[in-house]
Amino acid sequence: AEEGICQIYPVLIGLMGCGKSSIGKLLAAELGITFLDLDHYIVEKAGRTIPEIFAEVGEEGFRDLETKALREVLGTPVVLASGGGVVMRAENRAMLAAHAPVIWLKSSLHFLAGRIQGDENRPLTAGRDALTVLQQLAEIRYPYYTQCADYILHRGEMNKAQSLHAVIEYLR
Ligand code: S3P
Repeated sequence: AEEGICQIYPVLIGLMGCGKSSIGKLLAAELGITFLDLDHYIVEKAGRTIPEIFAEVGEEGFRDLETKALREVLGTPVVLASGGGVVMRAENRAMLAAHAPVIWLKSSLHFLAGRIQGDENRPLTAGRDALTVLQQLAEIRYPYYTQCADYILHRGEMNKAQSLHAVIEYLR
């Protein structure tokens, strides 16, 4: 394993709105490798948006595509931003557990709700109270995120730049 200068291919996990994509892009630039958003990868392959996929094949159909996508891209030289629900499948959790580093970007549910409320591109919360949905998701997913993560970044009041800095410190 001596190809490439950077051999650290971080995967970012966490609930919707936690900054996986925005911090992932900055991190990728910092590491000098490609940024890949798993949702974008799925959308490109399917030729449909996330809401369209949910409408046509339901959440389980989306999870099938997500699992297939994760299998295809995990381990390639990228910073990977996953979708918040990637930990729902045991198969995905096993893949993530076997990969390092997996980083959980953890923020307060109130902060996340404020970021995603009214976002029509997220079918799980569209037209619903985001905080209520996030509370339900957190109850199920926090044990899974804990199980998959090598590092938990508690963002607290940290902005994007500070969060990036903390992740880089961890990776050093
Ligand atoms: C989902 C999160 C979304 C997307 C889909 C389902 C989830 O990704 O995969 O809407 O189950 O939490 P983001 O976490 O990037 O919003």
